[in-house]
Amino acid sequence: MAAVILVGAQWGDEGKGKVTDYLAEKADVVIRYQGGSNAGHTVMVGQEEFKLHLVPSGILYPGKLCIIGNGVVVDPSILVKELDNLTSRGVDISGLRISNRAQLILPYHKSLDAAEEEHRGEAQIGTTKRGIGPAYVDKTARTGIRVSDLLDWDEFKKKLTQNVANTNERLTKLYGQQGCDLDAILTEYEGYAERLKPFVADTVRLVNKYIKDGKKILFEGAQGTLLDLDQGTYPFVTSSYPTAGGACIGTGVGPTKIDKVIGVAKAYTTRVGAGPFPTEVLDDVGDTLRQQGMEFGTTTGRPRRCGWFDTVIMRHAAEVNGLTGIALTKLDVLTGIDTLSICTAYRYKGEIINDFPADLKIFKECEPVYEEVPGWKEDISNAKSFEDLPENCRNYVKRLEELVGVPAQIIAVGPRRDQTIVVEKPF
Ligand code: GDP
Ligand code: IMO
Ligand code: MG
Repeated sequence: MAAVILVGAQWGDEGKGKVTDYLAEKADVVIRYQGGSNAGHTVMVGQEEFKLHLVPSGILYPGKLCIIGNGVVVDPSILVKELDNLTSRGVDISGLRISNRAQLILPYHKSLDAAEEEHRGEAQIGTTKRGIGPAYVDKTARTGIRVSDLLDWDEFKKKLTQNVANTNERLTKLYGQQGCDLDAILTEYEGYAERLKPFVADTVRLVNKYIKDGKKILFEGAQGTLLDLDQGTYPFVTSSYPTAGGACIGTGVGPTKIDKVIGVAKAYTTRVGAGPFPTEVLDDVGDTLRQQGMEFGTTTGRPRRCGWFDTVIMRHAAEVNGLTGIALTKLDVLTGIDTLSICTAYRYKGEIINDFPADLKIFKECEPVYEEVPGWKEDISNAKSFEDLPENCRNYVKRLEELVGVPAQIIAVGPRRDQTIVVEKPF
């Protein structure tokens, strides 16, 4: 038995798609457990780039069982487009399964997401406007519509009629927006039901059977620890649980079945959307990271905010996820920078803080305490082992490991599959 959770350790976009794809070769099942099409996971196969939003990043191996778990909020309009795109590029999607317990995103969730953001004014979260927050609100309010409802048209109609009436009231009266057209949604979703029906399954039974049979399961997190509803920079977070515990909830697999938790982290830090980011660098170095790292959002195209590696948030990620290893990505992006800064702690009102504070008012005022280390100039994008890396680069990685307290077991030195150093195999 081997069940490995891959979780974003920072604010998302750490390279989870690349690492998932790399490990998927050896896995029997790849399963997404939360989030929705707010995710944008990039996988490079040779020179070909795939951007996945809902389909697990194991799909590029023919016939691999790829599950969209019960914790995901599924936008069928995006899923169908994604499947069409994959099929047109010759990708075999026969291994896809969608949990019948997963929640559906409906057009009114996207309208509400946009309207609520506008209403927040200065306090905008900078959401992806994919309807994620409102869909999870419906789920917890117990008014959500699930994938299984798509297979029971009378039930779907009944729930949708009720929800459209309620939501239109809010959209029109509270936000002064246009309401949604019930009949148009019914027609649109009837098509999706037909299209997606063959993929719908009781994935809780399915994944647990695979575990019982001793198969290898890879859980693919979306977003990241600092975007977690409870453990992140609330309220500047997403509406799901990207942390490791979310993998159990979002798939129906018990915690006793999990063997390892790997935190995917960039060798620096990025963030899209609003909210405090202590190690953000606004000068030339920030621009260098953005240009060299091509830091523009996969889902929204927004430029990502860039900054130095922050070991305070990483220690938090190590703790709340129970990390057994780190997959350190984009190390190549740091090549050529003379001096690298590593945030070791924060200074708050003159005091040193070593732990990530819960109070956002405090976090906002935290200043990073930096340790400076020398960079390297050698091209590392073809390195095949840790020993291939230049000394300063090895020392940088070792220092991060020491400060976070977790070993770097995978190191990525480029976006392609062959640009991956494996120090310790998770499977
Ligand atoms: P995810 O959301 O965590 O899957 O990450 P994204 O796909 O949104 O963003 C990561 C970006 O970095 C993608 O464009 C990847 O192709 C790219 N990438 C991943 N690992 C590396 C790496 O080690 N080096 C470089 N240069 N790019 C990488
Ligand atoms: P992947 O899986 C980076 C951010 C948004 C915003 C906040 C809330 O590719 O790492 P939401 O639409 O979820 O309500 O937005 O979360 N966000 C992400 N940032 N990577 C992601 O996904 C993200 N998904 C959401 O920018 O700040
Ligand atoms: Mg992404």
